[in-house]
Amino acid sequence: MQKVIYPGSFDPLTFGHLDIIERLSRQFDEVVVLISWSSRKKYILDIIERKTAVTKVCQKFSNVRVDAFEGLLVEYVKKNNINMIAKGLRNARDYEYEMTMDHMNKTLFPDVETLYLISRPELSFISSTLVKEIASLGGDLKKFVPSEVEAYIKKKDKK
Ligand code: COA
Repeated sequence: MQKVIYPGSFDPLTFGHLDIIERLSRQFDEVVVLISWSSRKKYILDIIERKTAVTKVCQKFSNVRVDAFEGLLVEYVKKNNINMIAKGLRNARDYEYEMTMDHMNKTLFPDVETLYLISRPELSFISSTLVKEIASLGGDLKKFVPSEVEAYIKKKDKK
């Protein structure tokens, strides 16, 4: 059984992420979407809110499971017997950044491999950070995030 893990902040999950999940679900028997944590990010949705929103969106894929974890990615991977990580690449900047993370992860756990999927051109401009900025200024998110995710962001705004 071929398993792959797709980790990310998903704050929020965008159509770019969803495209990667869909493509992985066609190539692997099981896809674990892992809602993770990065010290570089400031989150608007907490980890439970992100997990709930992503789970709703991923219900349509029978082989996709959503989990949340605040520790080291390689520890989760080891514990769950997964040796393939998947990441999306939008541009050369993502590549540089991912290469450093890849080396760090491989140094921590040499058995792990990372697979890179190039974003579709029509989705490669979407960024979670810019989606958050548009949301904070009351802009329309329909073209960037699924409706379930938009509902979560709107609910958060009202609090
Ligand atoms: N389409 C659209 N956007 C995409 C995309 C795609 N296909 N692929 C990536 N992105 C965007 C995201 O929206 C996000 O945009 P932003 O920078 O505007 O917020 C960005 O690319 C990637 O952010 P994120 O989801 O946080 O992923 P990441 O590649 O930076 O990795 C973790 C973050 C959480 C997976 C990583 O920090 C991690 O593994 N954390 C666990 C702790 C750990 O092990 N740390 C050591 C790591 S070496």
